[in-house]
Amino acid sequence: MTLVVRVDRDRPDPSALAPAADCLRRGGLVAFPTETVYGLGVHALNREAVLKLFEAKGRPADDPLIVHIAEFTAITPLIESMPEAAGMLAARFWPGPLTLVLPRGRHVPLEVTAGLDTVAVRIPSHPVARALLTAAAIPVAAPSANLFSRPSPTRAAHVLEDLEGRIDMVVDAGATDVGVESTVLDLTVTPPQILRPGAITLETLQAVLPSVDVANPRAPGTPMPSPGLLPTHYAPRAPMTLFQGEAAATRDALAEAARHAIASGRRVGVIASAGDLAVLSGLPVVVAEIGPDDSANAMAARLYGALRELDAAEVDLIVAREPPRHDGLWRALRDRLRRAAAHLVAVGAARR
Ligand code: TXA
Ligand code: MG
Repeated sequence: MTLVVRVDRDRPDPSALAPAADCLRRGGLVAFPTETVYGLGVHALNREAVLKLFEAKGRPADDPLIVHIAEFTAITPLIESMPEAAGMLAARFWPGPLTLVLPRGRHVPLEVTAGLDTVAVRIPSHPVARALLTAAAIPVAAPSANLFSRPSPTRAAHVLEDLEGRIDMVVDAGATDVGVESTVLDLTVTPPQILRPGAITLETLQAVLPSVDVANPRAPGTPMPSPGLLPTHYAPRAPMTLFQGEAAATRDALAEAARHAIASGRRVGVIASAGDLAVLSGLPVVVAEIGPDDSANAMAARLYGALRELDAAEVDLIVAREPPRHDGLWRALRDRLRRAAAHLVAVGAARR
């Protein structure tokens, strides 16, 4: 049985959180909201509990977890040494959606770090996450609270969809803010590398630490990775085709692909921005609208929920457009769309 506890987002009742904090201390599995997505928390220094968490998620053991703490001072026992940049970045961005990969302290179980000599750490800014971590007074390892390969949960209902009956508790404080996972920055390499883009953007990080780089950027003009090589981490159940290129051309391609699939009797889901609605009008498609065309924030907040909606609508395939920008939060949005996609199709100018 999974117990659901509802709390106020901004002023969570300490007596409501106490059982969740207790449960974590005793090695239980507790899902809770962070500013990015819901996490599935477990006592980070309790090996058996960590193994239980991997099993509940169906997560492969070679994928390391992020350790969440409430205060900067709690980092000391988790790391072997503090790279100079860490203090500076922590002072500027913690609490917040930035994860730092640091040299692993010897008390952090290898189960948490998937055998690596590094450990990922962050201080979340969500009031409920902070209150829970403070009450538990232990480091909490927490991956996103979804089944392996499903989109990350941005609401408690998403957590229950995937994990009801497999975990002890869910702390429900409504929708999360950012909607995509934290930026993961590796400080154990020179120059520091962004392993996963997120709300703390490349540009913002470079303003503090100019040498920050993005891991394995695909040089402009190089061929698309073949569909088989795409990391399908955040996949909806129905295969998704992502059209890349300039707005008008991708919009036409999107509508054309939808028409074609409908003609062959398939049920089509569309991840659409407000500007896409016109070309879809009159088409019998299931539309999940993710926001105005100029707001990466709105789109990021809605993306995972939209993927789940289309799965629930039992569509046979999903079509979407890649936003044409990649600065700021657009980079993270593009990254998550690509990971969710089974096929990338370049259209118009992008094909040359
Ligand atoms: O926003 C978030 O980061 C959410 C909330 C719950 O905090 N958590 C999250 O966890 O997204 P998860 O497990 O779904 O993703 C963790 C990412 C993975 O890509 C993992 O490979 C990377 O962090 N990671 C963790 N430890 C690492 C390490 N030692 N070295 C390199 N990458 C690491
Ligand atoms: Mg995840």
